[in-house]
Amino acid sequence: MSRNEDASFWQLARQHLIRYGGQFEPVVIERAKGTYVYDADDRPILDFTSGQMSAILGHGHPDIVNVVAHHAAHLDHLFSGMLSRPVVELAGRLAAIAPGNLTRSLLLSTGGEANEAAIKMAKLATGKYEVVAFAESWHGMTGAASSATYSAGRKGYGPAAVGSFAIPAPHAYRPQWVREAGWDWQAELDYAFALIDRQSNGSLAAFIAEPILSSGGIIDLPLGYLAALKRKCEERGMLLIVDEAQTGVGRTGFMFACGRDNVVPDILTLSKTLGAGLPLSAVVTTADIEESCHERGFLFYTTHVSDPLPAAVGLRVLEVVERDGLVERARVAGERLARGLRALQDRHECIGDVRGRGLLLGVEIVKDRGTKEPAPVLGTAITRQCMSMGLSMNIVQLPGMGSVFRIAPPLNVGDDEIDMALDILDRAITQVA
Ligand SMILES: Cc1ncc(COP(=O)(O)O)c(C=O)c1O
Repeated sequence: MSRNEDASFWQLARQHLIRYGGQFEPVVIERAKGTYVYDADDRPILDFTSGQMSAILGHGHPDIVNVVAHHAAHLDHLFSGMLSRPVVELAGRLAAIAPGNLTRSLLLSTGGEANEAAIKMAKLATGKYEVVAFAESWHGMTGAASSATYSAGRKGYGPAAVGSFAIPAPHAYRPQWVREAGWDWQAELDYAFALIDRQSNGSLAAFIAEPILSSGGIIDLPLGYLAALKRKCEERGMLLIVDEAQTGVGRTGFMFACGRDNVVPDILTLSKTLGAGLPLSAVVTTADIEESCHERGFLFYTTHVSDPLPAAVGLRVLEVVERDGLVERARVAGERLARGLRALQDRHECIGDVRGRGLLLGVEIVKDRGTKEPAPVLGTAITRQCMSMGLSMNIVQLPGMGSVFRIAPPLNVGDDEIDMALDILDRAITQVA
């Protein structure tokens, strides 16, 4: 019998865990190393979601192990009013690599928290309170972040923050505004903002955007869109917050995805990838915005703000990414993976679309390529089959869209591991479809 069927483990889980989302995988994970996690039978499973889209250096990376061990022993957690070298050095490093004049950072723990702080800063700096986001967004589970999250989780909790608005994300595979000349995302954006202007009471504070909407089904903002969005914000005195939880720190083949577009947001938020799987997030903004928030009494005191241990991890993550050329590696490995996925698309009718950038790729499963009819049952079956064959894949199922695999292996994934994952996916689709 498989050790994954350990009855007392599952009994304890059923009795004592609060279920916070979908179903748990039917395996007990005992350890993780590199691109693999290992179940209770010591079966290796390729981790093509890098944990929760975070472990960009893979699991148990020796540099991270060393820095955690050192700081756990010597400088772990402090009174939030105390500063330590890793915190100040990480803030300096972020200022050096962030685009434009984003030179001031606040170091927190999670992505939701960073977006919470960013939205609060945008409100304080502008003196306004309305916040616009994409209708397929995910920015976190805390108050302001979840008010700006439209892809899931809005039902049953009462009103979101007053002044929360959404516009559709531009989706090349499922475009809304198709004219004779083709897809016209600018017209879609103009119309969306005309509606926002009608609904607003004149208090538009910020737009918060992911450069690639991940939980929304890997919707990649077309080149030029982010710049057009920034112009819409500037025209209205709104701040642009770019949430690079998943796209930041090299994953798209740029240090930050907004770098492709040469757009400097007013506030950049980083999380998941910055700690490479450990809880670290950052809000990065301009000196002007920081000064004006400080003058107005900005307060964001948390238990783990400016903690030295996660800051030291973040510093080391950035060092390793630079030392090992992982931004370029993400671009090259991403091209290999995308090529392989397109070859699978040629063979499997159920693959409607392959999209994304670098090592953040999406594969949309449909019933019929012509009609693009969603295929949620098939998508789930392929995911299960992959898991049983040793490949962990993450699928999102949104209304009106097919099932979309979000493929995001660590940036140091090997070519052999990419080829192995492609082979497993190929065989899984063949067996299920
Ligand atoms: C783009 C984006 N922003 C924010 C978050 C929230 O981060 P956390 O779960 O660390 O609060 C997520 C989580 O999936 C995300 O994908």
